[in-house]
Amino acid sequence: MSPHRIAVLAGDGIGPEVVEAALPVLEAAAGLEGVDLDWVHFPWGCDHWQATGRMMPEDGLDRLRPFDAIFLGAVGRPDVPDHVSVRGLILPIRRAFDQYVNLRPMELLPGLSPVLAGRGGAPFSPESFRMVCVRENSEGEYVGLGGRFDQGTRDERAEQLSVFTRRGIERVARYAFRLADGRPRRLLASATKSNAWQHAMVLWDEVVEEVARDFPRVSWRPYHVDALAARMVSHPDSLDVILASNLFGDILSDLGAALTGSLGLAPGANLNPEGTHPSMFEPIHGSAPDIAGQGIANPIGTIWAGALMLDHLGAQGAAGRVERALRAVVADGTVLTPELGGRAGTMEVAEAVRLRLADAGGAPPPS
Ligand code: IPM
Ligand code: MG
Repeated sequence: MSPHRIAVLAGDGIGPEVVEAALPVLEAAAGLEGVDLDWVHFPWGCDHWQATGRMMPEDGLDRLRPFDAIFLGAVGRPDVPDHVSVRGLILPIRRAFDQYVNLRPMELLPGLSPVLAGRGGAPFSPESFRMVCVRENSEGEYVGLGGRFDQGTRDERAEQLSVFTRRGIERVARYAFRLADGRPRRLLASATKSNAWQHAMVLWDEVVEEVARDFPRVSWRPYHVDALAARMVSHPDSLDVILASNLFGDILSDLGAALTGSLGLAPGANLNPEGTHPSMFEPIHGSAPDIAGQGIANPIGTIWAGALMLDHLGAQGAAGRVERALRAVVADGTVLTPELGGRAGTMEVAEAVRLRLADAGGAPPPS
């Protein structure tokens, strides 16, 4: 079989560290299943911006287009404005390749003590904290329309428009309902704010309700996003698939990851479900300049993102191995990075996962 061609954008800060750690794990898992991966590295990011004034070359998107997938570390550096770095790389890729689903599992891995365990009596266990966020990833609050006016004067004003389309809401809602329909609990919560946002979020609610009619087995309900955030803390066991707009999903997925113990654990998939364009896989954390260069960043989120990528590429056996191996390392608890109370470095954790791959064969774990 011809190799899967993957564009690697390690990026900035801890990005290159976690990517360097993750690649041998993914490579080894693929090898055990007879799957060939061909990695092509692109040195794009803030250094590139400093040298050329652009986060990626002008033809960057054209160069990424032929790849089967994109594997991203993290982007951003304290001396480069965030809107420059992010608007110069991540967001154009999500947009140009119509990666309209941002899939973000939020699960408490067995072995970890969750942040809120024992406080407030919420049922925090791997069985009760098992959600996945389906975030709209192509429009909404992230369209980047608006402007700054009368800058520097007392009348200064900024406008930031959001755009929600029936088509955009419908396609991501359909993806989320289909996902919920295939999960054991068949539950879906839609994050809204139609009490205050009378245009966009009322359309959101209407379209979600229409889509829901095609999935009679899924029990669903809308929650205002503030109440949903509270519910993730107080009753995580009542939640399964969470459907959210671009900004709401961004916030809720960080909350979900933090509740499970560390932002460094959580993976994300920016999916173009039709496969017309390459999809992009990345940990949900940022470039973490405060710990960059120390070799202590948690590689689990990146490795897990790699498992989502293997799954997307049709290499379910390899994906299952990676996921089972990383779960085993976390459950074992002796090789963890400092933010989880351990003393291991990035490479050690990744190596521990790699060493477990051989015993991690079998059917993919239920997702
Ligand atoms: C994420 C990040 C990005 C987002 C930033 C870097 C623009 O926070 O992937 O969650 O908001 O989508
Ligand atoms: Mg985010």
